[in-house]
Amino acid sequence: MLLLLNASFVNLIKATSTNCKNTPPQSTGPFYKVPSKIFNNDMTNNGKASGKRIKVYGKVLDNKCKPITNAVLDIWQANSFGKYNHQADLSESRKDNDFYGYIRLESNEEGEYSFNTILPGSYKVSKNLIRTPHIHFKVTNNQKQLTTQMYFKGNEMNNKDFLFKNTYNNNALEARIDQSFSNLTYKFDIII
Ligand SMILES: [Fe+2]
Repeated sequence: MLLLLNASFVNLIKATSTNCKNTPPQSTGPFYKVPSKIFNNDMTNNGKASGKRIKVYGKVLDNKCKPITNAVLDIWQANSFGKYNHQADLSESRKDNDFYGYIRLESNEEGEYSFNTILPGSYKVSKNLIRTPHIHFKVTNNQKQLTTQMYFKGNEMNNKDFLFKNTYNNNALEARIDQSFSNLTYKFDIII
């Protein structure tokens, strides 16, 4: 009896200590646009885009760590030269016609999403401000919506980035390499 009570107590502690903290929000930035159609999960035009190919995957969860199914993920990023496929991007960085730069995905019944892309380039915001490589996410589910940005853990530019370094709990925004894949794969869970 005592053993049973102890076991339930341990389970209760486990259950209450499973607490997913909300992913910190980040600004939308000037280069958001609604994708004109639902794209497949490849931004690279079957590998023709310039740059280092990567895969990004993860789960959309609520703050009890429960998977959120059918969440809509709008994802956008700069190409490998640091230029967005957007009319407001007036930088002289190179365009890449094989890199679309926008996709819309839905999380599956386990809350999972994944896509293939390239490592985004960094870009200048002004003479002295440079954005570290990042990928923008807008995640929508029923009444909930989160706009945020994913960074690459280990990139030494992160801690010099004005937006990243001024974000509380910013380690939750750093995607980590998943060594269990042979191709370069980053894992990024999003809690909304
Ligand atoms: Fe950006």
